[in-house]
Amino acid sequence: MSEIARRLDQCRKPTGDVGKIVVENMNEGHYNLTTWGLDKVDINNNFVILDVGCGGGKTVNRLAEKVESGKVYGMDYSDDCVKWSIGLNRKYIDENKVEIFQGTVESIPFKNEKFDLITAIETVYFWPDIKDSFKEIKRILKIGGTFVIINEMYRSDKFKDRNEKFEELGSMNIFSSNELEILLKDVGFEKIETDLIEDKNWLRCMCKKSI
Ligand SMILES: C[S@@+](CC[C@H](N)C(=O)[O-])C[C@H]1O[C@@H](n2cnc3c(N)ncnc32)[C@H](O)[C@@H]1O
Repeated sequence: MSEIARRLDQCRKPTGDVGKIVVENMNEGHYNLTTWGLDKVDINNNFVILDVGCGGGKTVNRLAEKVESGKVYGMDYSDDCVKWSIGLNRKYIDENKVEIFQGTVESIPFKNEKFDLITAIETVYFWPDIKDSFKEIKRILKIGGTFVIINEMYRSDKFKDRNEKFEELGSMNIFSSNELEILLKDVGFEKIETDLIEDKNWLRCMCKKSI
């Protein structure tokens, strides 16, 4: 396995000593992307938020700083990511402001309409059935709630060679903005808004659940 393939494999499901290094790099390396991705998202003090594919837990930590009386949940299917996210968020967990749990996006262990906001940062590439996963996200989102996807890669001519190589080596799906919009619309999301930074290949796709 090549070095890039090994790294992409760890991005898909970080585990063990190498996974820990990858997750620490992602906590730092996704900081600016996440700042940009969230800058248009309204976050109220009392929001209940879920970060799907929370990795090392940095976004959970940042969101917890924004919600005074709300709560932030972080979910990842990697046991190690759950452990590392718990470590990073210990203070907020003790204050009952954060909860981290192991789970997979196809079956999220919450009742319908629990969350005001659901974030998915650098993770949808790896979801096994994207449409069913979006349906599951919609199920647990409150009416009026927001789902935001933040990616540092989308299908585009400018980054075609790199992205196709990553898709092949990492068994991942790098979606175009149009593909994501169609999928979200098919599932019933509304007010779909996409922003791109073409030079960096960054994408933010926000949508609402209205019914
Ligand atoms: C590239 S990492 C991004 C981590 C974090 N969101 C960040 O921005 O640093 C992708 C994360 O999504 C998680 N993940 C991938 N597929 C998942 C699934 N089906 N359900 C839950 N988590 C998943 C992986 O374990 C990994 O932690």
